Formats: sequence, C-alpha cells, structure tokens
Amino acid sequence: MTSPAMKAELATLGAMVEARLETFFKDQAVPKTLARAMRYSLLAGGKRLRPVLCLAWADLAGGSMDKILDFACAIECIHTYSLIHDDLPAMDNDDLRRGKPSNHKQFDEATAILAGDGLLTEAFTLACGLDLPSTRILEAIRHLSIAAGPRGMVGGQVLDMGLSEPVETLEQLSVMHGCKTGALITSSCVTGAILGGGDTVFQDRATQYGQAIGLAFQVADDILDIVGDEQTLGKPVGSDVAHGKSTYPALLGIEQSRALARTTVTQAIDVLTGLTHPRAEFLKALAIHIVHRSN
Ligand code: IPE
Ligand code: IPE
Ligand code: MG
Ligand code: MG
Ligand code: MG
Repeated sequence: MTSPAMKAELATLGAMVEARLETFFKDQAVPKTLARAMRYSLLAGGKRLRPVLCLAWADLAGGSMDKILDFACAIECIHTYSLIHDDLPAMDNDDLRRGKPSNHKQFDEATAILAGDGLLTEAFTLACGLDLPSTRILEAIRHLSIAAGPRGMVGGQVLDMGLSEPVETLEQLSVMHGCKTGALITSSCVTGAILGGGDTVFQDRATQYGQAIGLAFQVADDILDIVGDEQTLGKPVGSDVAHGKSTYPALLGIEQSRALARTTVTQAIDVLTGLTHPRAEFLKALAIHIVHRSN
C-alpha cells in the first residue's frame, strides 16, 4: 500500500474514533469542570494511533469495527490520561501537549490529576458495555488492565522517572520502553484481535507486531525530542535531555537509533507476511509510517 493510501485509511479510522470521543462526558452526572478538563485533552487532536490499531486488528481478525469502537476509545482515554499525568510538574513538567497548554496549565494540578483519574476509570465502564460475548470482553479487559498498570505503562513510567531500578544499559532501556509505551501499543493490537474473534495463533501475531512497532514508536519519539519541530510535534522538544532521561539516542546516538527503529519495523512487517487481507497491507504501511513520522 502506498503512503497516501495508508494516510487516507488512517484518517478514515481516526475520524470514526474522533466522532465517538466527541460524544463523551456530556451527561449531567459529571461535574462541569471535570468534564471540561477531560474533554479538553481528549479532543485536542492526538494521532489516535492506538485506537486505530485496535480497530484494524479487529477487522483483520474478521470482527466488526463498529462493535469494538468503544473499546478502541477506551484505549484512547487511557492513553490521554497517561499524557496528562506525564506532563505534570512532578513528572516531566511539560507545558505544551497536542499543540495546547498542558492540562494542568489550562486548569490546575488537582483538576489535571482528577481528569486523568476520570479518563482511566471511564475506560473500564466503556469496555464493559460492548455488545460482544462476555468471555471475549473479560479477556480483553484483563489484557488491557495488565498493560496499563504496574506491570506495564505505570511500571515503565516509574523506571523512566528514575524512581526504581536504574536504566543504563540497552537491556534495561528496552524493558523500560516495552513497559511505558510498548505495552499499551501491543495491547491495542492484541485486544483488537481478541475482540474480533482471532484465535491464539492470531493473537500471537498481534503481540509480535505490537511489540515491534511499540519499540520503534518510542525510539522515534525519543529522536523527535531531539530533532523535531515543536510546532509540528505539538509538545516541547529537548524535554528528555533537560530531564536527563535515558533514551536510545542518548545511549546509541541518533543514526544507530534510526537503524534500530528500521530493523524493528521490518520485523513487524514480517509478522504480517502471508496474510492477504487488505488491512494487513494497511498495518504494514502504518509500521513504516511510525518511524518516518514528524509528529
Ligand atoms: C506520546 O504518544 C507519548 C508516547 C508514548 C511517546 P503519541 O505520540 O501517540 O501522542 P498523541 O496521542 O498523538 O498526542
Ligand atoms: C511517555 O513518554 C509515555 C507515557 C506513558 C505517557 P514521554 O514522556 O517520552 O512522552 P512525551 O514525549 O512526553 O509525549
Ligand atoms: Mg515521560
Ligand atoms: Mg513526557
Ligand atoms: Mg518523549
């Protein structure tokens, strides 16, 4: 698939997610400021990569994208919560996110913490409401909650912040990346595969693809933190160096990091070899896009 065709498909799936997210937190039961703060970050225009992966893997598994849309949106809620908390003064202390003032700058720290908490917990309400066999829903929720929690993203953020074991070697860095970013990206693919009805062999493919693009994605993010443009990225550049973060470019240099990202993407593409479904071509092109992106 060509890059323009992939981008058109990415935009179509992203628009599906966007339209559904727009309906969230409009009911009277949510305090107004909390609803405003959650909607502010959720609707600030992220790339929607994780929900799109979830939809695409469900489709590839032969499932209905409409039926799993709320689960894909739940993943985006968890991702958005992680960004709000990641930007807090106690964490990366960044003032710009998705091209707008970070949540704690627009509102205040307490509201930002609670907006994150609200997005995280709402994800599980959304996931429980799917019209699919309950065994599949339970398995997907189990996978997602492990990926987002202490054995996944939260654990990875603790390592990233230098609050626990040191991250100095390539092996430690790969564990940290695998947790803080790789786990949620992998889970987006695997839960799509589970909810779409894919068997365990198919789910293993989703795991291998997700782990490979998850690593490439964070390596690209670390490179963009050095060579990217703040306006295009919609978040500050130079944040990692300023905070003395362990990153692939810091350990390997930019060129070797780029080479690593390219090799990893090739592994992701290899996982899809032999599948004739058009969505497989989309996922291959998306993997390449992840390392060449500018935002
Ligand atoms: C940023 O994720 C945080 C990382 C895990 C590197 P994205 O680059 O997907 O952010 P949005 O959703 O497009 O804003
Ligand atoms: C954050 O990684 C990963 C999360 C779990 C949010 P970064 O701290 O590098 O993400 P950005 O660069 O601020 O988006
Ligand atoms: Mg961070
Ligand atoms: Mg950050
Ligand atoms: Mg970063």
